Amino acid sequence: MKFFIETFGCQMNDRDSLIMTQILEQAGYSCGTSIMEADIIVINTCSIRGKAEQKAYSLIGSLRKHKLANPNIIIIVTGCVAQQEGRAMVSRMQHVDMVLGPQSIYGLIDHIEKVKETGESLILTDQSKRFEIPPFLPDLHHSTPHKRFVTIMQGCNNYCTYCIVPFTRGREVSRKPADIIAEVKHLIDLGVKEVTLLGQNVNSYGLDQPDESRTSFPELLREVSKVAGLIRLRFTTSNPKDLSNDLMSCFAELDNLCLHFHLPMQSGSDIVLERMNRKYTVADYLLLVKGLRAVAPDISITTDIIVGFPNETDADFMGTMALMEEVRYDSAFSFIYSNRPPALSCDFADEVSKEEKSRRLALFQKRQKEITVEQHQRFVGREFDLMIEGESKMGNGQWSGRSTHNIIVNFYSETVYQPGDMVRVRVTEGLMNSLRAELV
Ligand code: SAH
Ligand code: SF4
Ligand code: F3S
Repeated sequence: MKFFIETFGCQMNDRDSLIMTQILEQAGYSCGTSIMEADIIVINTCSIRGKAEQKAYSLIGSLRKHKLANPNIIIIVTGCVAQQEGRAMVSRMQHVDMVLGPQSIYGLIDHIEKVKETGESLILTDQSKRFEIPPFLPDLHHSTPHKRFVTIMQGCNNYCTYCIVPFTRGREVSRKPADIIAEVKHLIDLGVKEVTLLGQNVNSYGLDQPDESRTSFPELLREVSKVAGLIRLRFTTSNPKDLSNDLMSCFAELDNLCLHFHLPMQSGSDIVLERMNRKYTVADYLLLVKGLRAVAPDISITTDIIVGFPNETDADFMGTMALMEEVRYDSAFSFIYSNRPPALSCDFADEVSKEEKSRRLALFQKRQKEITVEQHQRFVGREFDLMIEGESKMGNGQWSGRSTHNIIVNFYSETVYQPGDMVRVRVTEGLMNSLRAELV
């Protein structure tokens, strides 16, 4: 029996797909190479913006004929669209056998048996019960051999008004520090060199635990950092409202903590930030950036921004442009606002036209590209330790590695490297998506 998992969305979904892969393999299923030859098809969906949801629905819809011709295959929808839609998914897509929310994937084999037995569709999206993230020790042969994501918490309590995540991933649940450390040690034993701690807002790690047994995120970071053999440590993502001085000082303190901070600003207008329920102001944000650069002058700061939030004025947007100029991000993910019911902002009045929103996005992206190149050029002449990713996509004897700032660096070498090897290079050129360098 073969299975195939198609994954959309963020690292949370990548992680859940890895867990499901392992559960299915342990039950004797093997991973197929195409969706059409699989007996068990899992579509792990994302619903962060309307387009992501459409992509999921169009793939699920395209399987209708396949299911009619092969009634024994089992089609399972997981991830954020599954959680959000629940039974409505099966009413719209009758060929779907199972709809599992993110908290229900762990019993996958039992659920499959049940569907086989009863022939009826199964919908499991209840997130009202107390939930603990089960321990997980990953196999090596899936995903990259040298770097891995380790979930430290699931869910989000912040309810930014535009965002679907609190509705799809439920309330914040922190994993036990001992489980996290055990997983990191296990990964190091398998040869992994770099770990990224993962959560929707890692800064609130532990806040769901009672005071007396609570470990804060900086405390956890220090513990993980000490695991012998861990060469690089990263984390993502942080809501600026909870970024503490204690976390900032970790960058000066922990040698293996990489010099990169992803700090989503979303907007450079206080009025919009308030309507987004972000709970910080532009001034607060700039203080954080200043603080980070004071402890780690070389730190790379990246961000997410949303343009065209309901009734964003031209002045609000110019605030975003000004903040970008002031911070000088190494790179930024930028998106046009998308209505995500039941997120609160869907009810906000919006007079801004689609064309105007696209114009603003293009303006932001054009300027950010220029800044990215300028920022990359600041590294020319400098020496870095790179962690090898593999042969460069450009081929011709070039290798690719990542700097501590998480920037791709390409260089020529006749040596054959393994992913995770460390080399020292001198930067010769700063480009849009990468740096060029020579071996030292
Ligand atoms: N927890 C992270 C964000 C995860 S979602 C944080 O708070 O930083 C990743 C990004 O998607 C967000 O930072 C935001 O920029 C974008 N996003 C979320 N909802 C969106 C929406 N409704 N429309 C457009 N972009 C959105
Ligand atoms: Fe969404 Fe805000 Fe939570 Fe991030 S912090 S996942 S943007 S609600
Ligand atoms: Fe998408 Fe859900 Fe992640 S909406 S971005 S898969 S948390």
